[in-house]
Amino acid sequence: MPIWRPDEPHYPGQPYPPCITRAQGSYLYTADRQAIWDGTCAWWVTVHGHCHPVIAEAIAQAAYTLDQVLFADLTHPAAETLTEKLTARTGLPYAFFSDDGSTSVEIALKIAIQYFRNQGQRRTTFVALEGAYHGDTFGAMSVSARSLFTGPFEEWLFRVEWLPFPSQDERFWAAVQRLAARDDVIAFIGEPLLQGAAGMRGYPPAYWDAIARAARAGGALVIADEVFTGFGRTGHLFATDACQEKPDMLCLSKGLTGGFLPMGLTLVSQAVFEAFYTADPYKAFYHGHSYTGNPLACAAAVANLQLWEAPKTWHRLHTLTATQAAMAQAWNARHPEAPARTTGLVLAIDLPAAQKGYLASHRTHLKAYALERGIFLRPLGNVAYILPALSSTPDELARALEVIERYLVEAAISA
Ligand SMILES: Cc1ncc(COP(=O)(O)O)c(C=O)c1O
Repeated sequence: MPIWRPDEPHYPGQPYPPCITRAQGSYLYTADRQAIWDGTCAWWVTVHGHCHPVIAEAIAQAAYTLDQVLFADLTHPAAETLTEKLTARTGLPYAFFSDDGSTSVEIALKIAIQYFRNQGQRRTTFVALEGAYHGDTFGAMSVSARSLFTGPFEEWLFRVEWLPFPSQDERFWAAVQRLAARDDVIAFIGEPLLQGAAGMRGYPPAYWDAIARAARAGGALVIADEVFTGFGRTGHLFATDACQEKPDMLCLSKGLTGGFLPMGLTLVSQAVFEAFYTADPYKAFYHGHSYTGNPLACAAAVANLQLWEAPKTWHRLHTLTATQAAMAQAWNARHPEAPARTTGLVLAIDLPAAQKGYLASHRTHLKAYALERGIFLRPLGNVAYILPALSSTPDELARALEVIERYLVEAAISA
C-alpha cells in the first residue's frame, strides 16, 4: 500500500503494520478481532479511553449541526465555551486556534517575535531546554534539540540558545543566572515538568519556576508547551498547575479533544494580546489555517473538559498514577540495571543498551515482542514507557510491565 508513514524508515522487506478496524477503552482491535492494549494513548492523544461515548456523542451532534465556519469573520458557541473554560482554568484570556501541536508552538513563537516588534523592541534569541522536542514545522524544529529528526534541516533552522536539562548541576544554575542578565531573549520555551520525546525525562516544578523567573527578569516571555503534558499526563490537568510561575503563552493539542480530532490552541495572556490590540493593520497577527476553530474539534474539546469536571476522572487519574509509582518502586528493587521512573501517568524505564538514543534496537525489538503478546508499545529508543488512558485498570498496567520484564530478562539471556 503506497502510504508513507510518519517517523518511520521505509525499506524493502519491511513488515506491514497491523490494520486496526475498531477501538474501545484501552484496546485496539484488528480485523480478525485480536485485542491490543494501547500503552501509547495513540501517540499521547487519547485521554479517557478510545471512542469514549461522551466525546463521540458531542462530535456526532456537532456534525449534524455545524460543520465549519470561516473563523476569521465568524464565531460559534463551541469555540466560545471552550475558550471560557480554558481561561477559567489557566488565567490566560485569549485563545488562538490551529491544527496540531507543531502549529500551536509555531504560533506561540511568531506571536512572541511580533510582540516585541509591535512595541519597537529588537530581540534576537529564543532559549529552550537541551533535549527539547516541540514539533516538526520549521520554527518548532528550531527550538527542538538538534537530533536525528532535525539533522537534514539544520542549516535552515534559526538560532536558539540551550539551557542544560534542569537538575542540581552547577551548569544548569549558572545558565539560569546568565539568562536573568540577558535583555535580547524573545522567549523561553519549555515542556513543563516532563520532556516527552527526549525519553520521558521529568523534573520538579521548582526548576521550571527558576527558569521562568530568570527569563522574566530580562523581560523575555515564557511559553509552556503542554502539547504532551496537558490533560492529566503529569498527574495535574496541566503541568503548570503545579508551578508557581504561570506562562505568558500555553500551547495545547494532543489530549485537547480527548484524542478524537486534531486541534491546536495557543492560549495568550492579556499583556501579550494588548501588543496586538490596535487599529494599525501592520500590527495585526496574520496567521490562519483553513480549519481554524473547527466546530467538531471544539465540541470534542468541550466534552473532554466536561469529563475533567467529574470526580470519577480524578479518581482514575490518582489511582493510575499511584499504581505506576508503586510498580516503578518495586521494579527498581528487582532491576537496578534498568532504572524506572514515573511522572504522573507515565512510567519510563532505561533499558540497558550498547547504543542508546532513538535508534537503539529496543525500539523495534521490544515493540515487536510486546505486540506478539497483545500490548502496543513504542519505545523511545532504549527508553520503554507505559502511558495508559484513564480507562485502564491497574491489572492492565501490571500486565504491560510484566511483558517488558520478560523482554528484558530474555534479551539479557540472549545477549
Ligand atoms: C511537547 C510537544 N510539543 C509539540 C509536539 C508536536 O505536536 P504534533 O505532533 O501534534 O504536531 C509534540 C509531539 O509529540 C510534543 O510532544
